Amino acid sequence: MKLLDALNWRYAVKQFSDEIIPDVVITDLVRAMSLTPSCYGLQPYQLIQVNDRAVRQQLLDHAWGQNKVVDCSHLFVFGVSTKGIESIVDRYLAQQAHINSELITELDGFRAYLIKTLGGKSNAQLIEWAHRQAYIALGNLLTSTAVMNIDTCPMEGIDPAGFDQVLGLSAMGLTTSVACTLGYRSVDDKQALKPKIRFAKHDFLRVV
Ligand SMILES: Cc1cc2nc3c(=O)[nH]c(=O)nc-3n(C[C@H](O)[C@H](O)[C@H](O)COP(=O)(O)O)c2cc1C
Repeated sequence: MKLLDALNWRYAVKQFSDEIIPDVVITDLVRAMSLTPSCYGLQPYQLIQVNDRAVRQQLLDHAWGQNKVVDCSHLFVFGVSTKGIESIVDRYLAQQAHINSELITELDGFRAYLIKTLGGKSNAQLIEWAHRQAYIALGNLLTSTAVMNIDTCPMEGIDPAGFDQVLGLSAMGLTTSVACTLGYRSVDDKQALKPKIRFAKHDFLRVV
């Protein structure tokens, strides 16, 4: 599909069919999300793919009764790092050194720069910054799925603390950012018939 056709086709699905997304498609989508740009490339988040239906059933108690967390084909939860800037930077630099076949010590200057630049943030500010990075990946997922004819519903209507507890995220040094259900729209989903409510260009675009 062409980009604008795909973006008009997609909508936030309320009711999914029973159809399951093939593994090869999920593999491509995970790679697409991992290719999301982030501030300094630090990727201060991880993706949790929740396959276990019993776990999803527990998440339903923290999802404002939105059954799609159970009924969808695939459920992704973005978890942002709570471990602090040194952990975020060191995780990234280890990967950079590995990919570039360089010694980690060669990156000492860059490490000091990153920690000085981002280390001025409080822990709460750092987590807020990490949420913003995760939302870029969410946006990338929504566009990627649309062009691949996969349906989604991004979900902020969840209790992050409840998700953290069910998924054991604090032990992973993560906290819930946002979730996204994926699958194929049910033929009974009336939401599909609703028009897009968007601001007109003159109310949306300010050219200065
Ligand atoms: C970050 C985010 C969180 C959202 N949370 C929910 C949600 O919890 N439940 C839901 O049904 N829709 C949710 N939505 C869907 C929006 O209501 C929907 O995207 C918006 O009304 C625009 O409609 P459209 O996506 O169908 O074009 C969310 C969307 C975004 C981007």
